[in-house]
Amino acid sequence: MVRLCVFDAYGTLFDVDAAARESAVPDDLWPALSSDWRRKQLEYSWLRTVAGAHVDFWQVTQDALDWALEARGLADPELREELSGLYLRLAPFPEVRAVLQDLRARGLPIAILSNGSRHMLDQAVSGAGFEGVFDAVLSVDDVGAFKPARAVYDMVGAQFGTDPREVLFISSNGWDICAGAAYGFRTLWLNRAGAARDRLHGQPEAEARDMTAVLSHLERL
Ligand code: LAC
Repeated sequence: MVRLCVFDAYGTLFDVDAAARESAVPDDLWPALSSDWRRKQLEYSWLRTVAGAHVDFWQVTQDALDWALEARGLADPELREELSGLYLRLAPFPEVRAVLQDLRARGLPIAILSNGSRHMLDQAVSGAGFEGVFDAVLSVDDVGAFKPARAVYDMVGAQFGTDPREVLFISSNGWDICAGAAYGFRTLWLNRAGAARDRLHGQPEAEARDMTAVLSHLERL
């Protein structure tokens, strides 16, 4: 029986492409910049965890942005500043607010489990008007490693006293949902991009295109 819904943040609740899309980066360049930025951000998070060289996700995000700007010939302090600021107040995907409200109306606890630093998550949650919506916002700052390290998924049970099988974990990131499934969570992959499944140490139990599927999925569990 599922007692708790846990959401990944970036790419799942918040649209990581919104920063580059809303910035002064030209229309023909922002998609590539945004994709480089995200890819490097994730690579740096994994590499730093493997190397035991943790810094917080804000540092990783800025380092990845510097790489992406240089790679695309866009290095410029003003643009960097604009993109950094926009990343701190990313828009939620359009359907997110209503689904979170529905879950709350059913009395099901909801939480965020994210690589984001405490500061980033506070800004994202308040920027979206989600204050008071989540029962907990869990940041990897408290364990000093990034997903998919097991120590991160352990934070859920430590906070809520739940067994992994009592948790529905929802992430748009293929690698994150595979690791969550291997950990023992019930899993719903929000495959927003229509991506191929990652071949990793676990497989998601179910797949949907966006969060509107969460309620009907819960009814089937
Ligand atoms: C997060 C990233 C991985 O929010 O999307 O944890």
